Order: sequence, then C-alpha cells, then structure tokens
Amino acid sequence: MRFARAVSPEDCKISTSYFRQWRALNDWLVRHETLWRPVPFMEPRPGWTQQYPDLADWLEQLSESECDQWDEHLSAFAQEVARLVPALSAYDTLVSVPKLPGHNRGSQAALREVQAVDMPGRKRLQAGAFAASVTPLSSHVLDWCCGKGHLARTLVGQGAEAVFGFEWDGALVQDGNRLATRYGDPVKLIQQDVMADGLCWPAVDHGAALHACGDLHRQLLMAGSEAGLARLSVSPCCYHLGGRGPYRLLSQQARDAHGVLDMDRTGLRLAVQETVTAPARERAQSARIRAWRLGFDALQRSLSEHGRYLPVPSHPTRLNSGCFEEFCRWAAEKKRVVLPAEVDWSYWLAVGQQRSRQARRHELLRHLFRRPLELWLVFDYAVYLEEQGYQVNLGTFCERSLTPRNLLLDAVHVNK
Ligand SMILES: C[S@@+](CC[C@H](N)C(=O)[O-])C[C@H]1O[C@@H](n2cnc3c(N)ncnc32)[C@H](O)[C@@H]1O
Repeated sequence: MRFARAVSPEDCKISTSYFRQWRALNDWLVRHETLWRPVPFMEPRPGWTQQYPDLADWLEQLSESECDQWDEHLSAFAQEVARLVPALSAYDTLVSVPKLPGHNRGSQAALREVQAVDMPGRKRLQAGAFAASVTPLSSHVLDWCCGKGHLARTLVGQGAEAVFGFEWDGALVQDGNRLATRYGDPVKLIQQDVMADGLCWPAVDHGAALHACGDLHRQLLMAGSEAGLARLSVSPCCYHLGGRGPYRLLSQQARDAHGVLDMDRTGLRLAVQETVTAPARERAQSARIRAWRLGFDALQRSLSEHGRYLPVPSHPTRLNSGCFEEFCRWAAEKKRVVLPAEVDWSYWLAVGQQRSRQARRHELLRHLFRRPLELWLVFDYAVYLEEQGYQVNLGTFCERSLTPRNLLLDAVHVNK
C-alpha cells in the first residue's frame, strides 16, 4: 500500500472553495450565536428576545400546524424570518451543495428486496443511493463500521470485486458473513475495533463509511488518509458522539483561522437534532410530560435563590398515567427541593404549558441552524482531506426524506 503525502502549508496558501465556504458559515454562525446557543428547554428568556422583540412576537403567534409546516420547509422559513433578521436571507446560499447521482439512481443500485435480509427498507435505499453516488468503484473496498455489511453487499452489486468490513460487534459480523455466503457475495467482515491503535488494514484502496457515528467516521478520515487509501467515501452522522470537552476541528486551515466558532457537544448535538414525528398518541403523551417538566422547573426556580434550570432525570413510567402534582412531588424528592405546604398546582401546570408552547417555537428558530452547523463540520472535513492530498466532491446522495444525514464526502487522492 502506498502512503499519501500530507500537503504542506505552502501547498495550501490558496484557500480552496471548501475553505471559503467553511469560513462564510463560520462567520455567519458566530454572528447569530445568540439565536442558536440558548437551549429553549433551559432558558425561558433568551437574550435574543430583547434583541429581536418582533421576532419573538411573530414566533409566539404561530399555530402548531404552522410550526410543523415551517419545520418541514426551513428554507422558506429562513426567508420569512429574514424580514426581521435580514442576514438570515443568506441561508440558502450557505447551505447549498450539489446533488450526487444517488438521487436518481439509488433504487436501481439498491439490493433487490429478496436479497435485503435483515435490512430495514430505508437502509436498503440509503445504501443504494450511497453506492450509486460512488460508482465506478475501485476493485477492493472496506466498509467501515459495517454492521451486517449491507453497504458492503450493495457495493458488490455495483462492481466492487471484493469488499471487506470492519465491525466490532461479533454477532453482527457472524450474521453478515452468513448472509454474504448465502448470496455468494465476495464480502468478508472482520471483527475489529476501528478505534484501536495499529489497525491492520486488509488489501483495499477505498474506504467507505455509511453513517458511522462521530469519532468513528473522523477516524476513517484520519487513519484512512494516513494509511494512504486512494479513495475515501464518507456519509457522516451523530457528530457529537465520541470524545469529550471542546470539539477540535480537523483541518489545519480552520484550526489556524481567526474568529473560529467555539463548538461544544451541545452545538454538535444541534447539528443532528430532528423533529420526531411520532404517532398522535405518543406526541400527546410527550407534550404532557414536557409541560409537567417545564411546570416543575418554573416552580423550583420560584423557590430557589439562584432561579436556575435544574436537570431532572428520567422518571419511572408509572408516573405517565399519574398527574402533574405526583410528578412534581417525585421530582422534588429526587432533586431535594422542599415544596411549601400549599402549592397552586393548576397555576404551575398552566405555566408549564405556556413554557412548552414557547419552547417549541424557540426550537423551531434553532432548527434553522442545524444544517449550517452540520456543513460547518463537514466543510472542515473536506478541507482536511484536501490538505492530505485528496480531491473532494461533497454533495447530497439522497433526499432528506430518506435520511436527514444525506451528505457524502467522496475524496480521491490526486497522486494515485
Ligand atoms: C450506525 S451503525 C452503521 C452501520 C452500517 N454502516 C449501516 O449503515 O447500516 C454503526 C456501526 O458501528 C459499529 N461500531 C461502533 N463502534 C465501533 C468500533 N469502535 N469499531 C467498529 N465498529 C463499531 C456499531 O456496532 C454499528 O454496527
């Protein structure tokens, strides 16, 4: 296996378009930090409500169905909010990335349904769209954090001569190898912790990762480029998983830049936070509990000297069928909050319901920053790969409705 030469700082003197896009997002996110940093569940009166009172009022009067609609159409929502915060009109330009071929050819490249054993329908189509976006394939590919090797088997169908897989869960490896044998696929899954030192690479020139979480996909970018793989194709997800403390950017250019966004795990989590579309009964139940939690929070703030948010752990399910008062008594005991002899429970419940309504609308505003934060991370990955000597193609491999984690970085080494 040949080893890639890291590009020296001299080579990087000219900023690439990925760096420029990262820079633009970075500055925009820094400029609007007050809008996305405060966590609505924890902060009833974020600073921006004073800075943009018209925005706070406008959000306040949105109905539930309008919130759902805007959440589905964030680009239109950004243009609407831009009437009150003009710089948000840059949203579309900042988040625009090209569509890769998986959008049109994903279902053709997917495994046939009869072959897609143990594979949820969406995963079959996601793997197909990923594979269609990286064809033509090199001969020997490694499926990184492969689970049962669904992507590996899909890549075989798209022309890979042999695909290896790294996966640390022995049961998945066994099941995956059994499936590959059953269908005669040239796939071999290997039980391997990808975070281990001194990885022993199989004879491959292409590393592919579909939805390896956080540090796992970052490990492929770093270890794969260091090992000299000619090609790396990565669709990242769960950016917040792995590591502790402040987030460290990958690329030297971003690390050396001035005015870099200070990113913590809460910010990373926002990049992948989705609105859960649960059945109506579950939604009603979680709305009720949310109001209870916020009602208890308002009550405890009124009793404490500091008036700060108090995190309450998950509650026993028996409380779900109880009432607000029972919930508060349980939470007070857990958090050692001394309740007065007389509490106006209906008042605090009404406060909780009002806070819940407001938190939903403030969350909607934060959702505008999810994709920009995600791209801030992924553009940095692209710049890092360029610094390692790769030519990078970044785009979406499928529609958001198939998976919201639809970005794909496809990097080919220029010297191989
Ligand atoms: C989100 S799943 C993605 C699986 C597969 N790529 C897919 O799209 O179906 C992540 C996989 O990474 C595996 N994994 C987690 N940590 C790992 C590690 N340190 N080394 C190897 N595999 C790991 C998990 O067991 C899981 O199968």
